[in-house]
Amino acid sequence: MTAARTLALSTPEATAKLGRAVAAKLRAGDAVCLSGPLGAGKSALARALIRALTSPDEEVPSPTFTLVQTYDGPGFPIAHFDLYRLAAPEEAVEIGVYEALDIGAAVIEWPERLGAALPADRLDIRLEPAPDRGASEGRVASLTPWGTWIGREPSL
Ligand SMILES: Nc1ncnc2c1ncn2[C@@H]1O[C@H](COP(=O)(O)OP(=O)(O)OP(=O)(O)O)[C@@H](O)[C@H]1O
Ligand SMILES: [Mg+2]
Repeated sequence: MTAARTLALSTPEATAKLGRAVAAKLRAGDAVCLSGPLGAGKSALARALIRALTSPDEEVPSPTFTLVQTYDGPGFPIAHFDLYRLAAPEEAVEIGVYEALDIGAAVIEWPERLGAALPADRLDIRLEPAPDRGASEGRVASLTPWGTWIGREPSL
């Protein structure tokens, strides 16, 4: 078991900064798994990460209905998944989760939908409302690296 690191994110800008710090470490084959309740800031983090590797003006819609959006990253594609609507873990194969990791990187919201079939080389980031404050008032992020992410955590 790898150790989780906890970070306080007091503003949406802090969430974006974490996204950019993860982007700086991202390589082909990497998964970034973003968990946490509705409205926790998963898409906000994904957007900042993708913009850091594409362009600051990149449109990064939440893939709630399309399940996946892909982007041309620096030398490899980046796939942004939102698995909230996935009915069964097996559907992840059909929508190309593992294929995306063969050719590039994947940012995955609602990774719980994959059940046991989580990518081995992944950085888990759990976002939650800060315990002592209201829902609009800040978040806490817990980062847990697995596989090749161990020893390669984002610097903040
Ligand atoms: N550290 C933070 N402090 C306060 N608000 C934040 C923080 N980070 C993000 N937010 C805000 O939380 C709101 C919800 O963010 P977002 O849509 O990214 O959530 P989500 O986790 O993707 O939700 P869903 O599961 O519904 O897709 C946004 O308005 C965003 O700006
Ligand atoms: Mg979202």
